[in-house]
Amino acid sequence: MSRIALLGCGGFIGSHFLDAFLLDPDVRIEGWDWTPAKILPHLTNPNFRFHSGDIYSQPDLEALLSRCDVVVSLAAICNPSQYNTKALDVIDSNFIQARKIADLCAKLGKWLIQFSTSEVYGQTLAHWTGAGDSNPALYEMGEEETPLLLGPIASQRWSYACAKQLLERYVYALHKEKGLYFTLIRPFNFLGPRMDFLPGRDGDGLPRVLACFTSSLLDRKPLPLVDGGGARRTFLAVEEAVAALRLMLERPGLARNQIFNLGNPANETTIRGLAESMRKAAADLTGDATYLSLPLVDVTAEEFYGEGYADSDRRMPRIDKALRLLDWEPRQGLPEILHRTLEYAFRIHGR
Ligand code: NAD
Ligand code: UGA
Repeated sequence: MSRIALLGCGGFIGSHFLDAFLLDPDVRIEGWDWTPAKILPHLTNPNFRFHSGDIYSQPDLEALLSRCDVVVSLAAICNPSQYNTKALDVIDSNFIQARKIADLCAKLGKWLIQFSTSEVYGQTLAHWTGAGDSNPALYEMGEEETPLLLGPIASQRWSYACAKQLLERYVYALHKEKGLYFTLIRPFNFLGPRMDFLPGRDGDGLPRVLACFTSSLLDRKPLPLVDGGGARRTFLAVEEAVAALRLMLERPGLARNQIFNLGNPANETTIRGLAESMRKAAADLTGDATYLSLPLVDVTAEEFYGEGYADSDRRMPRIDKALRLLDWEPRQGLPEILHRTLEYAFRIHGR
């Protein structure tokens, strides 16, 4: 039987982790989050115990972690609209608090699977040198060889990437000096149902792009393209990311003390392309072709996010390590992921 501690179990990735892992009757999960709103169906599962409130204020945290085989840490503020507006909270959440879990794992001799981010790579060498697309070595991102290139301090957007990078370095130092077993995961834009919140429907504020565009489609409003929507992302189905986690837990000898990119290089698109694909998915799903003509409107980053926002130009993961060590390869294409995700949103929130 395996016992897993899941910090941030009530969020987007956590909810999919529970869906997949609780199918296995031999798994026991202790989960922590502020709220269980996205995981209500699991609360009655005898193999899952939910602890609500702030993780770092739980008096029995150390005792419970000491009884688990592995600690999976998802808990973080990871919404770009807060990186430049609430940088103190972002740094606190992504490094100052998060390092306490790494310290505990080192003390207790537990394997820590820590979620980092693709944003630690920052902007590409192609961006900084103005070299364009001709040489993949200037834009592909490999775990061991690619430099991590963040922007200036006044671009507060990089508060998140910098805090995550410091957490990675801290975890690595705990490994080297105190023998911590670790796995660092760098997700490249996972997509799927239950990502973030839809403003005015089940939350307030500015969510990540999937939820922004979903809101626009549901309300039949223009889709905002920040600085023209020219930034590029690769998108991975969240269920395929969770499958990679399962493979890691099945192969601790190969997964421990490694950094893994998890992304799908085949699903690269500009944000403008994403908006067009989401309009098409909504039209296909509903049979209503008027979705295709919803306007795409340009908005400046300063108007949309405020002062201090900067953007990753491109995120192209190398995933050969996950293939080699875990035998993991993503297969779901972007249209399929978007269709499933919008089907869920339209079913839950109506049209
Ligand atoms: P999410 O915001 O949906 O989930 C994070 C969860 O952690 C939330 O439910 C939040 O309530 C909880 N949490 C945070 N601090 C807490 C605290 N102090 N006490 C209790 N609960 C707390 O985010 P997600 O998309 O599921 O991402 C999970 C992790 O993966 C994060 O560390 C994020 O940086 C990383 N990540 C995600 C993506 C992605 O594509 N989703 C990409 C890169 C990195
Ligand atoms: C995200 C977040 O930082 C983290 O969740 C995560 O660590 C990281 O991705 C990752 O996957 O590694 P980002 O991709 O910039 O970063 O976040 P989104 O809010 O989803 O924005 C994607 C792009 O869409 C950006 O260029 C943004 O400017 C643009 N955007 C966003 C729009 O054009 N319109 C919108 O309505 C919203």
